Amino acid sequence: MTVSEIFETMDYGAAPESPDQALAWVAAHKGKFGHYINGAFTGPGKTFETRNPATGEVLARVSQGTQKDVDAAVAAARRAQPGWEKAGGHARAKALYALARLLQKHSRLFAVLETMDNGKPIRESRDIDIPLVQRHFYFHAGMAQLMEDELPDRRALGVCGQVIPWNFPLLMLAWKIAPALATGNTVVLKPAEYTPLTALLFADICREAGLPEGVVNIVTGNGAVGEMIVAAEVDKVAFTGSTAVGRKIRESTAGSGKALTLELGGKSPYIVFDDADLDSAVEGLVDAIWFNQGQVCCAGSRLLVHEPVADAFYARLRARMDKLRLGSPLDKSIDVGAIVDPVQLRTITSLVAGNTAGDTYVAKGALPAGGCFYPPTLITGLNPADTLMQEEIFGPVLVSCTFRTPAEAIAIANNTRYGLAATIWSENINLALDIAPKLAAGIVWVNGTNMMDAAAGFGGVRESGFGREGGWEGLASYTRPKGKEKALKNIAPFEGSGPSGDSVDRTAKLYIGGKQARPDGGYSAPVHGKSGTLLGHISLAARKDVRNAVEAAHAAKGWSGTTGHLRAQILYYIAENLAARRDDFARRLNDMQGGKSGEKEVGTTISRLFTWAAWADKYDGQIHGVPVRGVALAMKEPVGVIGILCPSEAPLLGLISCMAPAIAMGNRVILSASEPFPLAATDFIQVLETSDVPAGVVNILTGPQADLAKPLAGHMDVDAVWSFGKVALSETVEKASASNLKRTWVNNGRARDWSGAEGQGRAFLEAATEIRNIWVPYGE
Ligand code: NAI
Repeated sequence: MTVSEIFETMDYGAAPESPDQALAWVAAHKGKFGHYINGAFTGPGKTFETRNPATGEVLARVSQGTQKDVDAAVAAARRAQPGWEKAGGHARAKALYALARLLQKHSRLFAVLETMDNGKPIRESRDIDIPLVQRHFYFHAGMAQLMEDELPDRRALGVCGQVIPWNFPLLMLAWKIAPALATGNTVVLKPAEYTPLTALLFADICREAGLPEGVVNIVTGNGAVGEMIVAAEVDKVAFTGSTAVGRKIRESTAGSGKALTLELGGKSPYIVFDDADLDSAVEGLVDAIWFNQGQVCCAGSRLLVHEPVADAFYARLRARMDKLRLGSPLDKSIDVGAIVDPVQLRTITSLVAGNTAGDTYVAKGALPAGGCFYPPTLITGLNPADTLMQEEIFGPVLVSCTFRTPAEAIAIANNTRYGLAATIWSENINLALDIAPKLAAGIVWVNGTNMMDAAAGFGGVRESGFGREGGWEGLASYTRPKGKEKALKNIAPFEGSGPSGDSVDRTAKLYIGGKQARPDGGYSAPVHGKSGTLLGHISLAARKDVRNAVEAAHAAKGWSGTTGHLRAQILYYIAENLAARRDDFARRLNDMQGGKSGEKEVGTTISRLFTWAAWADKYDGQIHGVPVRGVALAMKEPVGVIGILCPSEAPLLGLISCMAPAIAMGNRVILSASEPFPLAATDFIQVLETSDVPAGVVNILTGPQADLAKPLAGHMDVDAVWSFGKVALSETVEKASASNLKRTWVNNGRARDWSGAEGQGRAFLEAATEIRNIWVPYGE
């Protein structure tokens, strides 16, 4: 081609990056890898191939982990953990800093190897993945340094089992390993079977950095190895991948006491308003859905366009699609690389082939011969319920529909089981910031997309999983409180025989939607005091009452939009009304539990209400120092509807210690009262009735918690469940929560001192809020 011909077409020339260094590194390992356990590579076991998806060439053979390998890795991590934690924050900071420096030093090698193993364009691995990996290690070197000062009451969890996917192989490794190591944990990590190589190169770097043996262990293999890691004696499981596997992990770890974070799938809306800078919005879409061939959990894969500009916008988008260059991922001038594996290519192909709805447009650019390539595709004119608008395609396929009003945009955007990210494109900041909190998403980008940083938490709601990675909130999930743990004792209710002298028979009702309600089943049960005296009857709530309470709580959603100031006033008012009946409650507590601690319990309860009234308007969000010109607002928002199995012990204080922080933060609650001592809760209904708490904000159910745990935790419209009741309920709740992957907070048999600091504090604030990061870039 002559220079004048190039000017004619304005086409780019090829600018290939050399694979030589990466191939030399593979060759230095003789093309065959074992696992990295206890600071050394094991000899290769039974191996499988990892291929370059752009060419189909075999790059290397890696070992399929066995139970023995996983056991050895976990044992090495367990041995190394106490020393690593005791070494202190500064020692860990130095180690993380060394890793960051080495990642920087070898960044080109990492980028090339990543591109060869995964198929992503070198431009992306070189300019996005690897720099973000380095940033993560630097950032967490800082976290390690600051931990003792900033988190003086927290310590490491222990050994973390981490399973990661193939779409950002090294970046996901960094997101998992950096915070774990910073906080004094050791890890056993499994990279995805399609993309194990950069994790193995990272193992080399760990050796070079002189990381103590056993702190990082890497075991390769397929999902079966992932399952072994999840089942192993680890203290935490951190998983990123598909929602189906995430759900399985939730079920299999239920009741085990293992901490769990899940970063799962998404079908994130990308909303373009008529006042948007349309060209920028088109360019944003290139980053939203054609970045990494659309194999991005937070990809803006669902395009919602304001009707007045839809035709114009689609025309510009199609023109831009035609200009996208597909080709060898090692070529620095291509935009779209290869799909990770033929299996994923088949998934994408069959999902699109199965669709008959809407109009499909395929980019005109040439498709490279051979290799796993799929052309950028746009499908317009879909209905929100069409399969492709609901299912994660995980490929370069954008699906779209139009909307007429902002309210409709929100409704369509939220019409999904996922809730990872969302993008809003509008020049009207007032509109954008009004919409942002109304979207079911853990991350919202305004006039930009796919922005991520170590300082800002990343993670979703609904079936996109729970927990955050990055920022302070990401760290929290790698730590636990210091101090000895006490085992929880199950408390049995007192038994008695027949009525007592106190003659007025009273059956306390349930409290649903601001009204006292008879239980659906019509059953009641007696409650006896320590001496066997009959104290009264309670209603036995069942599945239908749970459903009614959830409905009532949903109808009270206005509570989540109230101000902290208003919620504080109502909490103070509850305290005031409780104080007015201090003696009655004290007597009731003494009658139910025996002993004389009632007065003290009421006093502590009133003080606790003051604490949460105080917090209602003080748990502020943050503005993160992310490296973009703009702000990343971390907004603390209510979780929604929280079901709470209140503790058996401290029947009034426990109830209020759960209810008050939840409603202070704007949640609506369904409280299952102390099972052995339920009458404090039913008496409390009268306090609620006189305290201006809007109907449905607090709902109270009585009866065996075992009957309520499953319907509450399995209910698709409940956003979180806390379980402070009997030991066995932890497992029931965690297992049933897999239905919609709701957040859970369970005691796992650990006793909590309700009257002390443990009965209040930040853990409750964190459990009662969801952090939404809203990115607003500004300027030119
Ligand atoms: P996957 O969820 O099966 O794999 C992710 C990781 O989990 C891999 O390391 C895999 O070996 C491991 N794994 C598989 N089964 C496991 C089990 N039972 N227990 C523990 N670990 C297990 O994802 P896959 O099959 O590679 O991709 C399928 C679909 O999942 C994609 O089409 C996409 O829709 C979604 N996906 C979402 C990702 C995200 O970042 N949210 C990442 C990868 C896939």
